[in-house]
Amino acid sequence: MTNPDETGSNEATVARSQQRSDKVEADLAVHPQRWRLLTGDRPTGKLHIGHYFGSLANRVRLQNLGLDSYLVIADYQVIYDRDGVGELQDNVMSAMADYLAIGIDPARTTIFTHSALPGLNQLMLPFLSLVTDAELRRNPTVKDELATSDRPMSGLMLTFPVHQAADILFCKANVVPVGTDQLPHIEQTRVIARRFDERYGRVDPEHPVFPEPEALLSATPHVLGLDGTKMSKSRGNTIEIGMSADETAKLIRKAKTDAERHITYDPQNRPEVSNLLLLTALCERGQDGEVADPALIAEEIGDGGSGTLKKRLTASLNEYFAPMRARRAEVAADEGYLRQVLREGNERAGAVADQTLHEVREAMRMIY
Ligand code: TRP
Repeated sequence: MTNPDETGSNEATVARSQQRSDKVEADLAVHPQRWRLLTGDRPTGKLHIGHYFGSLANRVRLQNLGLDSYLVIADYQVIYDRDGVGELQDNVMSAMADYLAIGIDPARTTIFTHSALPGLNQLMLPFLSLVTDAELRRNPTVKDELATSDRPMSGLMLTFPVHQAADILFCKANVVPVGTDQLPHIEQTRVIARRFDERYGRVDPEHPVFPEPEALLSATPHVLGLDGTKMSKSRGNTIEIGMSADETAKLIRKAKTDAERHITYDPQNRPEVSNLLLLTALCERGQDGEVADPALIAEEIGDGGSGTLKKRLTASLNEYFAPMRARRAEVAADEGYLRQVLREGNERAGAVADQTLHEVREAMRMIY
């Protein structure tokens, strides 16, 4: 997708990031109180099981380790590449229902939207003074947009990595769980934190205003869509967290497989079948109580073929998500509750943002 030499995400960089991340991961369980975590999603559609296994479940795990957690529903990041807000409101409410259903606990995780935090958004201005136009154009996501989109690039698209830095730094998060695609954004955030200190200084001579956050690259399983390609709403190959058991069964029945009847786990040569096996394994427990082994499931099915595999996946997946879906139906039916949780999160996060903005203005001698 992007030129690895210029993205800052070449193999050496990723390997270095992984080493640092492993150290952080080891410390999280020992000293959870040292870490403040921020994660986020662009509410562009419904959350699906790819999001769940790839990141949401990991957030719940980290929250439950005792980390002070923040979760941004990045609504301003939705409008950087489109002409209106579209289904934004529905998507935000739906994400709220998903979060609460899967075990995000609003008492331990502060859930908020960008748009409700003036203090966060104002950080964007001093931060913009710390980056160059050329630097922003080298960001892989921005660069990709320039290269592939047929619409003119918005100013918000060009500068969104700076806004994302504000997402992370407003609460002084020092750990950000991400996939490798987000590493350049974390690096940009670290650069902004450092430059802020160099250029504008400190309130407390012992401590810079902002920490340099660490990326956390936890090993989460990478699941594909039901056609064996990247799971994404636009490809119509997703299973949404909030779907019913029947809808799920119907989609799995239509999932792509291959011509070979005997089932084997071979992600290289049989991506579609192997992905269905992986999904099955993620929804089952092995004898040791850990996530099941897709290769063993393949052996058990053997000549049963893809029909047997699909039946097993349907049963296991529906069973795995049943309690979450029941909880989701409950909270989704009570929009007043969802809005209340979000309002409380926005208030909490807003107070933190105002405090940080105050420190920024102190450091910049802009308190009058
Ligand atoms: N850019 C992220 C994505 O597309 C979403 C996001 C917004 C985010 N703000 C963030 C991720 C801050 C981590 C930290 O998925």
